Amino acid sequence: MDRYAVAHASRNGPGDARPTALQIVQDELQYGDKSSSSLSELTIVITGATSGIGYETAQALYATGAKLFITARDTAKARQAIDRIVSSISPVNGRRYQEIEVVCMDMDSLASMRHAAGEILTRAKTINVLINNAGAYRLSCPRIHTKDGLERNWGVNYIAHFLLTHLLLPRLEASSSPVRRSRIVNLSTTGHRLFPTHLEDPNFEKTPYEPMSAYATSKLALIYHANYLDRHFSDRGIRAVSVHPGTIRTPMLDKYDALRSEKVDLPPAYAEELKSAEQGAATTVFAAIAACLEDKGGVYLENCTYGKEAAEDLGPMDGGYAAFAFDEEVEERLWKDTCKLLGVSEAL
Ligand SMILES: NC(=O)c1ccc[n+]([C@@H]2O[C@H](COP(=O)([O-])OP(=O)(O)OC[C@H]3O[C@@H](n4cnc5c(N)ncnc54)[C@H](OP(=O)(O)O)[C@@H]3O)[C@@H](O)[C@H]2O)c1
Repeated sequence: MDRYAVAHASRNGPGDARPTALQIVQDELQYGDKSSSSLSELTIVITGATSGIGYETAQALYATGAKLFITARDTAKARQAIDRIVSSISPVNGRRYQEIEVVCMDMDSLASMRHAAGEILTRAKTINVLINNAGAYRLSCPRIHTKDGLERNWGVNYIAHFLLTHLLLPRLEASSSPVRRSRIVNLSTTGHRLFPTHLEDPNFEKTPYEPMSAYATSKLALIYHANYLDRHFSDRGIRAVSVHPGTIRTPMLDKYDALRSEKVDLPPAYAEELKSAEQGAATTVFAAIAACLEDKGGVYLENCTYGKEAAEDLGPMDGGYAAFAFDEEVEERLWKDTCKLLGVSEAL
């Protein structure tokens, strides 16, 4: 697990010694997965691969030879991303690369989520890995709603991914094997411990709206979701983890920085801590394929290893998860409430 500890010991900004997603793939093919053909037998679903971390995740996983399904609200943009991915990977040792398929999925709409899940189930005979990567990050006030009337961070980041996962769980279970358990990877953020969260009022109907709190609430819920899934489905062959990718200048972060630049002093370590998008996708790819994580789950990963519980006075650049991010009672309640909201069965 500590293969990348030295590379993360000092930080010098994007492109420094910290590994990229492609580096993780190369290492896994060389050291982790002795039968290199088995990664190419995987089917992987990735939400939001049109830009940023999702794009880099797809590019690296494509290089394994796995079958990829990427979801996107803008399928033309997804096809452009695929063209870039395919032309960027040079063939290695006769490795066979499989066509990447696009599934149209507007995460602002639960009807679109159900339709897209049906489409995936029709086209993917097996699903070994689900990467819940897509993310909305609305910083504007007043709050914006999804088509189903949910606060947008909550609706897109958490509720839409919950529904997708729920609908794909039976296929993930059926695709699991004793040598390779199916995996679910939820993209969270260290922000879950930096801003007040409002799980009791996630649509901000009673609480004054604060965009960063809305984002943090949705990302805390994704950690709870992964913890619940791992606790209840690990004995059925499904492992689930949450990931903090680091701080990466993707379109998402650019919007945030542009908005806050005049108001907030950036921490001194901010520039050093920043990763490139290629590095930002490394922990996701590690979570998806690392052999050392086989049969592990219910954990929070960052910097390609287990994250640590953060002391309360730790700053934004110090990483780590909040102690309250692991709470069985809250996780159980959230699962029940979300199933009720979506009208899906609590017991699968
Ligand atoms: N960047 C960071 O520093 C950072 C830090 C912590 C966690 N994260 C997490 O990492 C994940 C990826 O973020 P990123 O930085 O790579 O952001 P990004 O470049 O803005 O990518 C976000 C992806 O989500 C898709 N998406 C957003 N809203 C959608 C919707 N309503 N329906 C369908 N797709 C939608 C986007 O599609 P379009 O191309 O159509 O917009 C895009 O593919 C997110 O979950 C984010 O919360 C990022």
